Amino acid sequence: MEKKVISFGRGVPAREAITPVRKEFWSLAEQVNAEHEDDPFHYAVPEVTNFGGFVPLKFTLAEMFSFPQDPKRHVIIGNGGEEIIGFLFEALEPGFIVFEEMSYDRAIKRASRLGHTPYGVRLTESGLDLNELGSVLKRDEFRAVYHIIYSSNPTGVCADPENVKECARICRKYKKPYICDIAYFDARYDGEKNPLPNFNDPVYEYTCFVGSFSKTLTPGAKCGFGLLPKTFVDVQPIIDDARLNPNYPTQVIYYEMIKSGFYARHQEFLRNLYNPKRVAINSAFEKYLPGSRFPAIPGGFFRVHVFENVGEVALISQAANFDVEIFSARSCIPLNLQPEYSNSVPVRFAYPRLNADDIRSGISISANSWKMAQNFEAACS
Ligand SMILES: Cc1ncc(COP(=O)(O)O)c(C=O)c1O
Repeated sequence: MEKKVISFGRGVPAREAITPVRKEFWSLAEQVNAEHEDDPFHYAVPEVTNFGGFVPLKFTLAEMFSFPQDPKRHVIIGNGGEEIIGFLFEALEPGFIVFEEMSYDRAIKRASRLGHTPYGVRLTESGLDLNELGSVLKRDEFRAVYHIIYSSNPTGVCADPENVKECARICRKYKKPYICDIAYFDARYDGEKNPLPNFNDPVYEYTCFVGSFSKTLTPGAKCGFGLLPKTFVDVQPIIDDARLNPNYPTQVIYYEMIKSGFYARHQEFLRNLYNPKRVAINSAFEKYLPGSRFPAIPGGFFRVHVFENVGEVALISQAANFDVEIFSARSCIPLNLQPEYSNSVPVRFAYPRLNADDIRSGISISANSWKMAQNFEAACS
């Protein structure tokens, strides 16, 4: 029999979350075939698809987020949120980009590969530290802010609307794009809805939203989008250079899923599926890892714990001895803040794929492993 391992390593949807989407996807494919014929299979068809995406989906996205700009020009759709983030980073002259003190590691890596320097700004319970943000953004070499405002990856922190507005105000003051990643906007399971900013307020003149359907529908079909303010439309030449066209068939099918109400019903299904897991991880943190640095989560895919005074190898291998797989979240921390974690191990716990019992026992084992690893290190020193 295969050994059971509890793995907190993968920030991917639960298996049960995929099946209904797969079935709906293929059944809609028939309808899309009949209605749209060859259009989604060309490079681009004027007024139907253009290099930024399937035009009706652009209008739907603008409506979903009450985004007032012309969707044809200001909504771009691509093959995932990460691709869009890459386009935006590429549109900026190389320089410093602000990230949360722990942020999406792939975005950090992408920024570095494009010649930028990711720079971590501390998080408070309400979002980015505004004093620190103000003092760094006034420096010329800072180009933009990347902020995961709803259920951040990996900390799970949701920024308060006032914090988002203040960040937007500071970015506008210094004329620097405020790139808000909203990959987890609909991934909230506690019965509340994440609030949207009023984009008609001039304070959001430099605010971009980048979203994804990877967690709310499926990562496999790949679709993400950007809502770009007037100050950021010159990203189009970069998109044209980077790729001829995105995956239109997925976009047409996602458009139909939203229009038919499947998307909304599926979000309800996901809330019911994920909420018991969310409750389990929050209560396990409270019981086994009290005083954790970041607050309980309302949704998203992750929680983080910083295990103090322990080495990475000792902690991770001790947990592995008990068949619990944990990984260091060190790559989520921008270089300027790395020294603060020299004697501790930040661990990202991804939970949606696990059941509530495994989440509880996995967290309990991780906490015990920490104590055992500390004892082991003390005995060896
Ligand atoms: C914050 C954040 N943004 C973007 C993405 C990537 O989305 P996509 O699969 O659409 O590229 C992820 C995936 O984990 C994420 O956590």
